[in-house]
Amino acid sequence: MEIVIDNVSKTFIDSKNIKVPALENINFSIKEHEFVVLVGPSGCGKSTLLNIVSGLMSPSEGSVYFEGIDKKQPDLGIVFQDIALLPWRTVYQNVVYGLQEKKFSKQQQKEIGQKYIDMVGLTGFENTYPKELSGGMKQRAGIARALAIEPDLLLMDEPFSALDAQTRTLMQEELVTIWNRTKLSTLYVTHNIQEAVFLADRVIVLSRHPGKLKSIIDIDLPKVGRNEPQFNNKFEAYVEEIWQLIRHDAKKALKE
Ligand SMILES: Nc1ncnc2c1ncn2[C@@H]1O[C@H](COP(=O)(O)OP(=O)(O)O)[C@@H](O)[C@H]1O
Ligand SMILES: [Mg+2]
Repeated sequence: MEIVIDNVSKTFIDSKNIKVPALENINFSIKEHEFVVLVGPSGCGKSTLLNIVSGLMSPSEGSVYFEGIDKKQPDLGIVFQDIALLPWRTVYQNVVYGLQEKKFSKQQQKEIGQKYIDMVGLTGFENTYPKELSGGMKQRAGIARALAIEPDLLLMDEPFSALDAQTRTLMQEELVTIWNRTKLSTLYVTHNIQEAVFLADRVIVLSRHPGKLKSIIDIDLPKVGRNEPQFNNKFEAYVEEIWQLIRHDAKKALKE
């Protein structure tokens, strides 16, 4: 299976009826089991591209297709920055929501739901309501919900950017552990370069106004343990390489 982003462009019409080109001729693909990170400064079209890949938004030109898939509609797991957990449902009820929609049996829901609740470290919080959870725990529940449907593609849009720095670092580490167990094809959006280098098999760097593909960088580091001292130099070299690609755009983004 491969997810192909084929020459995607998107132009918005703003409130003054002016065309805002958000994305221009974006081409890349996500291979099976690949973790691809989209990185770029605020306003470069990352969320727009993720929304197009998810089918929530249609492109102005080009298309997205899933190659080598033997079902009508791919299953997608989506995690946003603001996790939309249903407040009247417990953690468990939120996590199995997608399975209920797919008419999985109660027994299957229980097995699969518990598996992913355990995987994200929420064991014991099955019957807790979202309002009683910390920000990090809400994200865990949101991730478990996205994983539970065992999606063909996992889409994540800045899932940890509202968390404090320590929680964020822990969640990044746990995401690598989870990915190592599920090996899900993933498209992950962030404006944080360190995070991109920590998580990605490949980093797609976007420029802004309009969002164009600036560079694709393979991260040649082991998936687990990238923060160990022996990889420091190589890790920082990737961070620097990407920063040089986006610093000009990032400065401009600050002024707007
Ligand atoms: N619904 C919309 N209508 C008009 N312009 C939009 C809309 N959504 C996004 N944009 C514009 O498209 C550009 C890319 O936005 P977005 O994809 O949210 O960027 P990012 O996620 O990288 O910060 C921005 O200039 C933004 O203002
Ligand atoms: Mg965004």
